[in-house]
Amino acid sequence: KDLYRTRLIYTRVDYRIETWQLTMFRIPDLLTKKRDGMALTSEEIRYFVQEVVSGGVQECQLGAMLMAIYLKGLTDEETVCLTGAMKDSGDVLGPWPAEWEGKIVDKHSTGGVGDKISLILVPALAACGMKVPMVSGRGLGHTGGTLDKLESIEGLSVAASKNDILRILTNVGCCIVGQTDNLVPADKEMYAIRDVTGTVDNMGLIAGSIISKKAAEHLNALVLDVKFGVGAVMVDEVKSRELAKKMVDIGNGLGIKTAALITDMNNPIGKMIGNALEVAESVNCLFGNGPIELEDLVLSLGGQLMLLSGNASSVDEGRTKLKETLSNGEAAKKFKEMIIAQGADPEKAEILCTKGADVWSVLPEAKHVTSLKSKCSGYVYTINSRTCAECSLKLGAGRQASTDKINYAVGLELCVDIGSSIKEGDTWIKVHHDCDVIPDDIMRLLSGAINVQTSKPEILLTRVKDTIS
Ligand code: URA
Repeated sequence: KDLYRTRLIYTRVDYRIETWQLTMFRIPDLLTKKRDGMALTSEEIRYFVQEVVSGGVQECQLGAMLMAIYLKGLTDEETVCLTGAMKDSGDVLGPWPAEWEGKIVDKHSTGGVGDKISLILVPALAACGMKVPMVSGRGLGHTGGTLDKLESIEGLSVAASKNDILRILTNVGCCIVGQTDNLVPADKEMYAIRDVTGTVDNMGLIAGSIISKKAAEHLNALVLDVKFGVGAVMVDEVKSRELAKKMVDIGNGLGIKTAALITDMNNPIGKMIGNALEVAESVNCLFGNGPIELEDLVLSLGGQLMLLSGNASSVDEGRTKLKETLSNGEAAKKFKEMIIAQGADPEKAEILCTKGADVWSVLPEAKHVTSLKSKCSGYVYTINSRTCAECSLKLGAGRQASTDKINYAVGLELCVDIGSSIKEGDTWIKVHHDCDVIPDDIMRLLSGAINVQTSKPEILLTRVKDTIS
Protein backbone atom coordinates (compact mmCIF):
# COMPACT_ATOMS: atom_id res chain seq x y z
CA LYS A 1 0.00 0.00 0.00
CA ASP A 2 2.83 2.33 0.92
CA LEU A 3 4.65 1.59 -2.31
CA TYR A 4 1.51 2.37 -4.21
CA ARG A 5 1.12 5.70 -2.40
CA THR A 6 4.76 6.56 -2.99
CA ARG A 7 4.30 5.83 -6.69
CA LEU A 8 1.26 8.02 -6.80
CA ILE A 9 3.11 10.87 -5.15
CA TYR A 10 6.04 10.50 -7.52
CA THR A 11 3.75 10.40 -10.49
CA ARG A 12 2.09 13.58 -9.39
CA VAL A 13 5.39 15.28 -8.68
CA ASP A 14 6.82 14.15 -12.05
CA TYR A 15 3.76 15.36 -13.77
CA ARG A 16 4.04 18.76 -12.13
CA ILE A 17 7.71 19.03 -12.99
CA GLU A 18 6.95 18.12 -16.56
CA THR A 19 4.10 20.60 -16.76
CA TRP A 20 6.32 23.27 -15.28
CA GLN A 21 9.12 22.44 -17.75
CA LEU A 22 6.73 22.42 -20.66
CA THR A 23 5.47 25.91 -19.97
CA MET A 24 9.07 27.17 -20.14
CA PHE A 25 9.22 26.98 -23.95
CA ARG A 26 8.25 29.81 -26.27
CA ILE A 27 7.22 28.85 -29.80
CA PRO A 28 9.27 31.66 -31.42
CA ASP A 29 12.39 30.37 -29.59
CA LEU A 30 11.81 26.86 -30.94
CA LEU A 31 11.42 28.28 -34.42
CA THR A 32 14.68 30.22 -34.22
CA LYS A 33 16.48 27.20 -32.82
CA LYS A 34 15.41 25.03 -35.74
CA ARG A 35 15.93 27.83 -38.23
CA ASP A 36 19.54 28.04 -37.04
CA GLY A 37 20.01 24.32 -37.65
CA MET A 38 20.07 23.11 -34.06
CA ALA A 39 18.49 19.84 -32.97
CA LEU A 40 15.41 20.17 -30.79
CA THR A 41 15.25 18.17 -27.58
CA SER A 42 12.54 15.56 -27.09
CA GLU A 43 10.79 17.87 -24.58
CA GLU A 44 10.81 20.71 -27.07
CA ILE A 45 9.40 18.48 -29.83
CA ARG A 46 6.68 17.11 -27.53
CA TYR A 47 5.81 20.60 -26.39
CA PHE A 48 5.58 21.92 -29.95
CA VAL A 49 3.40 19.00 -31.08
CA GLN A 50 1.08 19.38 -28.08
CA GLU A 51 0.75 23.09 -28.79
CA VAL A 52 -0.04 22.39 -32.47
CA VAL A 53 -2.94 20.24 -31.33
CA SER A 54 -4.20 22.52 -28.58
CA GLY A 55 -4.18 25.63 -30.78
CA GLY A 56 -1.14 27.26 -29.18
CA VAL A 57 0.72 27.42 -32.50
CA GLN A 58 -0.49 29.84 -35.17
CA GLU A 59 -0.72 28.50 -38.74
CA CYS A 60 2.10 30.83 -39.81
CA GLN A 61 4.28 29.46 -36.98
CA LEU A 62 3.53 25.88 -38.00
CA GLY A 63 4.37 26.73 -41.61
CA ALA A 64 7.62 28.36 -40.44
CA MET A 65 8.59 25.32 -38.33
CA LEU A 66 7.85 22.93 -41.19
CA MET A 67 9.97 25.05 -43.53
CA ALA A 68 12.80 25.23 -40.99
CA ILE A 69 12.67 21.44 -40.62
CA TYR A 70 12.56 21.09 -44.41
CA LEU A 71 15.66 23.25 -44.84
CA LYS A 72 17.68 22.09 -41.83
CA GLY A 73 16.45 18.49 -41.50
CA LEU A 74 15.77 16.32 -38.47
CA THR A 75 18.29 14.00 -36.84
CA ASP A 76 17.28 10.35 -36.43
CA GLU A 77 16.64 11.03 -32.75
CA GLU A 78 14.41 14.01 -33.54
CA THR A 79 12.52 11.90 -36.11
CA VAL A 80 11.84 9.11 -33.61
CA CYS A 81 10.74 11.65 -31.04
CA LEU A 82 8.49 13.50 -33.52
CA THR A 83 6.89 10.19 -34.51
CA GLY A 84 6.14 9.31 -30.87
CA ALA A 85 4.83 12.78 -30.06
CA MET A 86 2.54 12.74 -33.10
CA LYS A 87 1.24 9.27 -32.23
CA ASP A 88 0.55 10.35 -28.64
CA SER A 89 -1.17 13.56 -29.72
CA GLY A 90 -4.52 11.73 -29.60
CA ASP A 91 -6.10 8.36 -28.92
CA VAL A 92 -4.31 5.15 -29.79
CA LEU A 93 -6.48 2.37 -31.21
CA GLY A 94 -6.76 -0.99 -29.41
CA PRO A 95 -5.96 -2.99 -27.47
CA TRP A 96 -7.67 -5.27 -29.96
CA PRO A 97 -9.48 -8.52 -29.06
CA ALA A 98 -6.95 -11.25 -28.21
CA GLU A 99 -8.22 -13.53 -30.98
CA TRP A 100 -7.09 -10.96 -33.58
CA GLU A 101 -3.46 -11.29 -32.52
CA GLY A 102 -1.21 -11.72 -35.55
CA LYS A 103 -3.89 -10.53 -37.96
CA ILE A 104 -3.85 -6.76 -37.41
CA VAL A 105 -2.04 -5.45 -40.45
CA ASP A 106 -1.80 -2.40 -42.68
CA LYS A 107 -0.05 -0.87 -45.65
CA HIS A 108 0.95 2.75 -46.32
CA SER A 109 2.37 4.46 -49.37
CA THR A 110 4.60 7.51 -49.58
CA GLY A 111 2.22 8.78 -52.26
CA GLY A 112 1.92 8.34 -55.97
CA VAL A 113 -0.06 9.09 -59.11
CA GLY A 114 -3.04 6.86 -59.84
CA ASP A 115 -2.14 5.14 -56.56
CA LYS A 116 -5.37 3.39 -55.64
CA ILE A 117 -3.70 0.34 -54.07
CA SER A 118 -5.33 0.79 -50.65
CA LEU A 119 -8.86 0.73 -52.09
CA ILE A 120 -8.14 -2.75 -53.44
CA LEU A 121 -5.66 -4.23 -50.97
CA VAL A 122 -7.51 -3.33 -47.76
CA PRO A 123 -10.72 -5.26 -48.61
CA ALA A 124 -8.71 -8.10 -50.18
CA LEU A 125 -6.78 -8.50 -46.91
CA ALA A 126 -10.03 -8.44 -44.93
CA ALA A 127 -11.39 -11.14 -47.25
CA CYS A 128 -8.35 -13.24 -46.24
CA GLY A 129 -9.33 -12.87 -42.57
CA MET A 130 -7.01 -9.97 -41.70
CA LYS A 131 -8.08 -6.96 -39.62
CA VAL A 132 -7.12 -3.67 -41.26
CA PRO A 133 -7.70 -0.43 -39.29
CA MET A 134 -6.23 1.85 -41.98
CA VAL A 135 -5.68 5.48 -41.01
CA SER A 136 -4.95 7.12 -44.34
CA GLY A 137 -4.39 10.61 -45.74
CA ARG A 138 -5.69 13.17 -48.21
CA GLY A 139 -3.91 14.43 -51.31
CA LEU A 140 -0.43 15.65 -50.44
CA GLY A 141 1.53 17.85 -52.83
CA HIS A 142 0.87 16.57 -56.33
CA THR A 143 -0.11 13.07 -55.12
CA GLY A 144 -3.69 11.89 -54.74
CA GLY A 145 -5.16 10.93 -51.35
CA THR A 146 -7.00 7.72 -50.53
CA LEU A 147 -9.47 9.63 -48.33
CA ASP A 148 -10.35 12.06 -51.13
CA LYS A 149 -10.89 9.14 -53.50
CA LEU A 150 -13.18 7.36 -51.04
CA GLU A 151 -15.17 10.53 -50.41
CA SER A 152 -16.20 10.58 -54.04
CA ILE A 153 -18.67 7.89 -52.88
CA GLU A 154 -21.76 9.81 -51.76
CA GLY A 155 -22.47 9.66 -48.03
CA LEU A 156 -19.21 7.95 -47.12
CA SER A 157 -17.46 9.37 -44.08
CA VAL A 158 -13.79 8.92 -43.25
CA ALA A 159 -14.24 10.34 -39.75
CA ALA A 160 -14.65 7.58 -37.20
CA SER A 161 -14.33 7.25 -33.43
CA LYS A 162 -12.36 4.50 -31.72
CA ASN A 163 -15.64 2.66 -31.07
CA ASP A 164 -16.76 3.01 -34.69
CA ILE A 165 -13.45 1.52 -35.84
CA LEU A 166 -13.74 -1.42 -33.42
CA ARG A 167 -17.32 -2.07 -34.56
CA ILE A 168 -16.42 -1.94 -38.27
CA LEU A 169 -13.40 -4.17 -37.77
CA THR A 170 -15.51 -6.65 -35.83
CA ASN A 171 -18.32 -6.74 -38.39
CA VAL A 172 -16.43 -6.22 -41.64
CA GLY A 173 -12.72 -6.63 -40.97
CA CYS A 174 -11.46 -3.37 -42.46
CA CYS A 175 -11.96 0.38 -42.60
CA ILE A 176 -10.20 3.34 -44.18
CA VAL A 177 -10.45 6.46 -42.04
CA GLY A 178 -8.63 9.75 -41.60
CA GLN A 179 -6.84 11.54 -38.82
CA THR A 180 -9.35 13.31 -36.56
CA ASP A 181 -9.23 15.67 -33.59
CA ASN A 182 -8.81 12.50 -31.49
CA LEU A 183 -6.80 10.23 -33.75
CA VAL A 184 -3.29 11.47 -34.64
CA PRO A 185 -4.56 15.08 -34.61
CA ALA A 186 -1.01 16.40 -34.91
CA ASP A 187 -0.68 14.71 -38.30
CA LYS A 188 -4.04 16.13 -39.36
CA GLU A 189 -2.79 19.68 -38.71
CA MET A 190 0.74 19.24 -40.01
CA TYR A 191 -0.31 17.28 -43.10
CA ALA A 192 -2.71 20.01 -44.24
CA ILE A 193 -0.08 22.73 -43.82
CA ARG A 194 2.71 20.69 -45.45
CA ASP A 195 0.43 20.22 -48.44
CA VAL A 196 0.37 23.96 -49.15
CA THR A 197 3.79 25.13 -47.96
CA GLY A 198 6.16 23.16 -50.20
CA THR A 199 7.33 21.02 -47.28
CA VAL A 200 6.11 17.58 -48.35
CA ASP A 201 9.29 15.85 -49.50
CA ASN A 202 11.24 15.83 -46.27
CA MET A 203 12.34 12.48 -44.85
CA GLY A 204 11.78 13.24 -41.16
CA LEU A 205 8.35 14.74 -41.82
CA ILE A 206 7.28 11.85 -44.05
CA ALA A 207 8.52 9.24 -41.58
CA GLY A 208 6.84 11.00 -38.65
CA SER A 209 3.58 11.42 -40.55
CA ILE A 210 3.37 7.83 -41.78
CA ILE A 211 4.67 5.89 -38.80
CA SER A 212 2.74 7.95 -36.21
CA LYS A 213 -0.52 6.98 -37.95
CA LYS A 214 0.49 3.32 -38.16
CA ALA A 215 1.74 3.21 -34.57
CA ALA A 216 -1.59 4.65 -33.42
CA GLU A 217 -3.30 1.64 -35.05
CA HIS A 218 -1.64 -0.85 -32.71
CA LEU A 219 -0.53 -3.12 -35.57
CA ASN A 220 1.16 -6.51 -35.73
CA ALA A 221 2.61 -5.95 -39.20
CA LEU A 222 3.05 -3.12 -41.67
CA VAL A 223 4.18 -2.97 -45.28
CA LEU A 224 5.33 0.33 -46.75
CA ASP A 225 5.20 1.25 -50.41
CA VAL A 226 8.13 3.63 -50.79
CA LYS A 227 8.08 5.11 -54.24
CA PHE A 228 10.75 6.73 -56.37
CA GLY A 229 10.61 8.33 -59.83
CA VAL A 230 9.14 11.50 -61.31
CA GLY A 231 5.69 10.98 -59.80
CA ALA A 232 6.93 10.11 -56.32
CA VAL A 233 7.22 12.48 -53.39
CA MET A 234 10.84 11.35 -53.07
CA VAL A 235 12.01 11.33 -56.69
CA ASP A 236 15.52 10.02 -56.11
CA GLU A 237 15.80 6.25 -55.70
CA VAL A 238 18.75 6.43 -53.30
CA LYS A 239 16.83 8.82 -51.05
CA SER A 240 13.73 6.60 -51.17
CA ARG A 241 15.83 3.68 -49.96
CA GLU A 242 17.16 5.82 -47.13
CA LEU A 243 13.60 6.85 -46.22
CA ALA A 244 12.45 3.22 -46.39
CA LYS A 245 15.25 2.09 -44.09
CA LYS A 246 14.43 4.88 -41.62
CA MET A 247 10.74 3.97 -41.51
CA VAL A 248 11.40 0.22 -41.30
CA ASP A 249 13.75 0.83 -38.36
CA ILE A 250 11.27 3.10 -36.54
CA GLY A 251 8.39 0.67 -37.19
CA ASN A 252 10.37 -2.36 -35.96
CA GLY A 253 11.62 -0.30 -33.01
CA LEU A 254 8.00 0.28 -32.02
CA GLY A 255 7.33 -3.46 -32.10
CA ILE A 256 5.53 -3.53 -35.46
CA LYS A 257 6.94 -6.07 -37.95
CA THR A 258 7.74 -3.69 -40.77
CA ALA A 259 9.00 -4.10 -44.34
CA ALA A 260 9.15 -1.73 -47.29
CA LEU A 261 8.94 -2.30 -51.02
CA ILE A 262 10.84 0.15 -53.20
CA THR A 263 8.60 0.76 -56.19
CA ASP A 264 8.82 2.62 -59.49
CA MET A 265 6.56 5.68 -59.79
CA ASN A 266 7.67 7.06 -63.15
CA ASN A 267 4.59 6.19 -65.21
CA PRO A 268 1.09 6.54 -63.68
CA ILE A 269 -0.31 3.45 -61.91
CA GLY A 270 -3.21 1.96 -63.88
CA LYS A 271 -5.23 3.99 -66.35
CA MET A 272 -7.19 6.42 -64.17
CA ILE A 273 -6.04 9.53 -62.32
CA GLY A 274 -8.67 11.47 -60.34
CA ASN A 275 -10.93 10.59 -57.45
CA ALA A 276 -14.13 8.96 -58.80
CA LEU A 277 -12.21 7.66 -61.84
CA GLU A 278 -9.85 5.81 -59.51
CA VAL A 279 -12.72 4.37 -57.48
CA ALA A 280 -14.22 3.00 -60.71
CA GLU A 281 -10.89 1.44 -61.71
CA SER A 282 -10.45 -0.03 -58.21
CA VAL A 283 -13.83 -1.74 -58.39
CA ASN A 284 -12.78 -3.34 -61.69
CA CYS A 285 -9.57 -4.51 -60.07
CA LEU A 286 -11.53 -5.88 -57.09
CA PHE A 287 -13.27 -8.14 -59.61
CA GLY A 288 -9.94 -9.24 -61.10
CA ASN A 289 -10.33 -7.00 -64.16
CA GLY A 290 -7.78 -4.31 -63.34
CA PRO A 291 -4.65 -3.45 -65.31
CA ILE A 292 -2.04 -6.20 -64.76
CA GLU A 293 0.60 -3.89 -63.29
CA LEU A 294 -1.92 -2.43 -60.82
CA GLU A 295 -2.93 -5.90 -59.67
CA ASP A 296 0.73 -6.93 -59.43
CA LEU A 297 1.50 -4.07 -57.05
CA VAL A 298 -1.55 -4.91 -54.90
CA LEU A 299 -0.46 -8.55 -54.69
CA SER A 300 3.23 -7.77 -54.12
CA LEU A 301 2.48 -5.49 -51.16
CA GLY A 302 -0.21 -7.79 -49.80
CA GLY A 303 1.89 -10.95 -50.26
CA GLN A 304 4.71 -9.35 -48.30
CA LEU A 305 2.31 -8.36 -45.53
CA MET A 306 0.80 -11.85 -45.32
CA LEU A 307 4.32 -13.29 -44.99
CA LEU A 308 5.43 -10.68 -42.47
CA SER A 309 2.42 -11.26 -40.23
CA GLY A 310 2.81 -15.05 -40.38
CA ASN A 311 -0.39 -15.57 -42.36
CA ALA A 312 1.46 -17.05 -45.35
CA SER A 313 4.67 -19.05 -45.53
CA SER A 314 5.95 -17.11 -48.55
CA VAL A 315 5.17 -13.97 -50.53
CA ASP A 316 3.86 -16.19 -53.33
CA GLU A 317 1.46 -17.99 -51.01
CA GLY A 318 0.21 -14.62 -49.75
CA ARG A 319 -0.22 -13.40 -53.34
CA THR A 320 -2.19 -16.52 -54.25
CA LYS A 321 -4.55 -16.11 -51.28
CA LEU A 322 -5.18 -12.47 -52.15
CA LYS A 323 -5.58 -13.17 -55.87
CA GLU A 324 -8.27 -15.72 -55.02
CA THR A 325 -10.33 -12.97 -53.31
CA LEU A 326 -10.14 -10.86 -56.49
CA SER A 327 -11.27 -13.81 -58.61
CA ASN A 328 -14.13 -15.06 -56.41
CA GLY A 329 -15.73 -11.66 -55.67
CA GLU A 330 -14.90 -11.80 -51.92
CA ALA A 331 -12.71 -8.68 -52.03
CA ALA A 332 -15.43 -6.70 -53.85
CA LYS A 333 -17.96 -7.90 -51.25
CA LYS A 334 -15.72 -6.67 -48.43
CA PHE A 335 -15.32 -3.31 -50.19
CA LYS A 336 -19.10 -3.00 -50.39
CA GLU A 337 -19.51 -3.90 -46.71
CA MET A 338 -16.78 -1.44 -45.74
CA ILE A 339 -18.23 1.53 -47.62
CA ILE A 340 -21.72 0.81 -46.25
CA ALA A 341 -20.30 0.61 -42.72
CA GLN A 342 -18.71 4.01 -43.37
CA GLY A 343 -21.99 5.60 -44.43
CA ALA A 344 -22.49 4.88 -48.15
CA ASP A 345 -26.06 4.27 -49.26
CA PRO A 346 -26.52 0.44 -49.36
CA GLU A 347 -28.43 0.46 -52.67
CA LYS A 348 -25.82 2.64 -54.37
CA ALA A 349 -23.02 0.56 -52.84
CA GLU A 350 -24.68 -2.54 -54.30
CA ILE A 351 -24.65 -0.97 -57.77
CA LEU A 352 -21.05 0.20 -57.40
CA CYS A 353 -19.94 -3.28 -56.36
CA THR A 354 -21.88 -5.34 -58.87
CA LYS A 355 -19.74 -6.73 -61.66
CA GLY A 356 -20.60 -5.08 -64.94
CA ALA A 357 -23.07 -2.56 -63.43
CA ASP A 358 -23.06 1.08 -64.54
CA VAL A 359 -20.85 2.59 -61.82
CA TRP A 360 -21.37 6.04 -63.33
CA SER A 361 -24.98 5.97 -62.19
CA VAL A 362 -23.65 6.26 -58.61
CA LEU A 363 -20.32 8.07 -58.99
CA PRO A 364 -19.86 11.75 -59.92
CA GLU A 365 -19.20 12.19 -63.63
CA ALA A 366 -17.54 15.19 -65.27
CA LYS A 367 -19.57 17.37 -67.65
CA HIS A 368 -17.14 16.91 -70.53
CA VAL A 369 -14.72 14.29 -71.80
CA THR A 370 -12.19 15.51 -74.36
CA SER A 371 -9.90 13.13 -76.26
CA LEU A 372 -6.34 14.29 -76.92
CA LYS A 373 -4.53 12.88 -79.95
CA SER A 374 -0.97 11.78 -80.43
CA LYS A 375 1.09 14.12 -82.61
CA CYS A 376 3.36 11.36 -83.89
CA SER A 377 3.60 7.61 -84.50
CA GLY A 378 5.81 5.08 -82.73
CA TYR A 379 5.84 3.37 -79.33
CA VAL A 380 4.67 4.87 -76.07
CA TYR A 381 7.95 5.15 -74.19
CA THR A 382 6.96 6.99 -71.03
CA ILE A 383 4.05 8.99 -69.65
CA ASN A 384 5.17 11.59 -67.14
CA SER A 385 3.16 10.82 -64.03
CA ARG A 386 4.03 14.08 -62.28
CA THR A 387 2.78 16.16 -65.21
CA CYS A 388 -0.42 14.09 -65.29
CA ALA A 389 -0.88 14.62 -61.54
CA GLU A 390 -0.33 18.37 -61.84
CA CYS A 391 -2.88 18.60 -64.67
CA SER A 392 -5.42 16.57 -62.72
CA LEU A 393 -4.88 18.86 -59.74
CA LYS A 394 -5.35 21.97 -61.92
CA LEU A 395 -8.60 20.49 -63.25
CA GLY A 396 -9.83 20.45 -59.63
CA ALA A 397 -9.06 16.90 -58.45
CA GLY A 398 -6.72 18.19 -55.71
CA ARG A 399 -6.20 21.24 -53.50
CA GLN A 400 -3.98 24.24 -54.15
CA ALA A 401 -4.98 25.84 -50.80
CA SER A 402 -6.03 23.97 -47.66
CA THR A 403 -9.57 25.37 -47.92
CA ASP A 404 -10.10 24.29 -51.56
CA LYS A 405 -13.00 21.97 -52.33
CA ILE A 406 -12.21 18.89 -54.37
CA ASN A 407 -13.99 18.15 -57.64
CA TYR A 408 -14.43 14.37 -57.42
CA ALA A 409 -15.50 13.92 -61.03
CA VAL A 410 -12.55 15.36 -62.94
CA GLY A 411 -9.29 13.70 -63.93
CA LEU A 412 -7.48 11.84 -66.66
CA GLU A 413 -8.02 8.52 -68.38
CA LEU A 414 -5.05 6.99 -70.17
CA CYS A 415 -5.93 5.14 -73.36
CA VAL A 416 -2.52 3.57 -74.09
CA ASP A 417 -0.07 1.25 -72.36
CA ILE A 418 3.65 1.77 -72.02
CA GLY A 419 5.23 -0.06 -74.96
CA SER A 420 2.08 -0.06 -77.10
CA SER A 421 2.31 1.24 -80.64
CA ILE A 422 0.50 4.46 -81.43
CA LYS A 423 -0.28 6.31 -84.65
CA GLU A 424 -0.46 10.04 -85.20
CA GLY A 425 -4.06 11.09 -84.50
CA ASP A 426 -4.82 8.19 -82.11
CA THR A 427 -6.37 9.19 -78.80
CA TRP A 428 -3.81 8.71 -76.03
CA ILE A 429 -5.63 10.34 -73.13
CA LYS A 430 -9.14 11.50 -72.26
CA VAL A 431 -9.55 14.57 -70.08
CA HIS A 432 -12.61 14.51 -67.81
CA HIS A 433 -13.37 18.17 -67.06
CA ASP A 434 -16.11 20.46 -65.79
CA CYS A 435 -14.75 23.70 -67.30
CA ASP A 436 -16.15 24.33 -70.79
CA VAL A 437 -12.71 24.66 -72.36
CA ILE A 438 -9.56 22.95 -71.11
CA PRO A 439 -7.13 25.74 -70.12
CA ASP A 440 -4.16 26.23 -72.48
CA ASP A 441 -1.56 25.47 -69.81
CA ILE A 442 -3.10 22.05 -69.17
CA MET A 443 -3.21 21.31 -72.91
CA ARG A 444 0.42 22.35 -73.25
CA LEU A 445 1.55 20.32 -70.24
CA LEU A 446 -0.31 17.21 -71.35
CA SER A 447 1.04 17.32 -74.88
CA GLY A 448 4.53 17.15 -73.36
CA ALA A 449 3.61 14.36 -70.93
CA ILE A 450 3.69 11.53 -73.47
CA ASN A 451 6.99 10.45 -74.94
CA VAL A 452 6.67 8.50 -78.19
CA GLN A 453 9.80 6.91 -79.70
CA THR A 454 10.53 4.81 -82.74
CA SER A 455 11.94 1.96 -80.62
CA LYS A 456 10.03 -0.13 -78.09
CA PRO A 457 10.90 0.49 -74.42
CA GLU A 458 11.76 -2.27 -71.97
CA ILE A 459 8.47 -3.20 -70.34
CA LEU A 460 8.57 -3.57 -66.56
CA LEU A 461 6.92 -6.79 -65.42
CA THR A 462 6.62 -5.37 -61.93
CA ARG A 463 7.14 -1.97 -60.36
CA VAL A 464 8.83 -3.55 -57.34
CA LYS A 465 12.56 -2.88 -57.37
CA ASP A 466 13.55 -4.16 -53.93
CA THR A 467 12.36 -5.21 -50.49
CA ILE A 468 13.80 -3.73 -47.30
CA SER A 469 13.07 -5.43 -44.03
N1 URA B 1 1.68 9.70 -46.62
C1 URA B 1 1.55 10.24 -45.37
O1 URA B 1 0.68 9.84 -44.62
N2 URA B 1 2.41 11.18 -45.02
C2 URA B 1 3.39 11.63 -45.80
O2 URA B 1 4.13 12.49 -45.39
C3 URA B 1 3.52 11.07 -47.10
C4 URA B 1 2.64 10.10 -47.48
